[in-house]
Amino acid sequence: MDLIPALSGRHLDADAAKQLLVLQHEKIRVLLDKARGVAERALGGKKRAAARLPDAISRIRRTVEVHLQFEERALAVILEEDAVPSSRAQHAAWFLRDHERQREALTRLHGQAMAKSELPGLAAALAVLSAGLSNDMDEEERTLSIAPAVRATPTAPMAAVADPVETKTA
Ligand SMILES: [Fe+2]
Ligand SMILES: [Fe+2]
Repeated sequence: MDLIPALSGRHLDADAAKQLLVLQHEKIRVLLDKARGVAERALGGKKRAAARLPDAISRIRRTVEVHLQFEERALAVILEEDAVPSSRAQHAAWFLRDHERQREALTRLHGQAMAKSELPGLAAALAVLSAGLSNDMDEEERTLSIAPAVRATPTAPMAAVADPVETKTA
């Protein structure tokens, strides 16, 4: 899955940047749902799900990091629309503070997953991280006045987001 489709060689205007951000948010939401499902099955005693959980968490970390890097570049374009320079700076600072907090949370969770920490604690930490990231994405969309994308139904096929995302930002 390419989180940043067809970006290279294309001029990025504010509308295109917002559209890409919201699409990325949707893909991240699907990944988070999927990982929570894996954690639930693991907690239910499924050994294969337990074995897959660290991988699911790694994928979330990689995907979100690609997104954060893209968003930090896209913000420069989007915030150009802010008429007042001081509000532009405030917005940028707010996003960067959020990203720092998100990166710390992802690093912590990933560390727990790699250390194979006990399953209930890992599942609980994943649930907390997922809820936090989902709220942050909702708030970003409100802040940037982006209409949320149509939510995928829970039964929608996951194949489109099943491939690992490599950390490439070019
Ligand atoms: Fe963000
Ligand atoms: Fe975001």
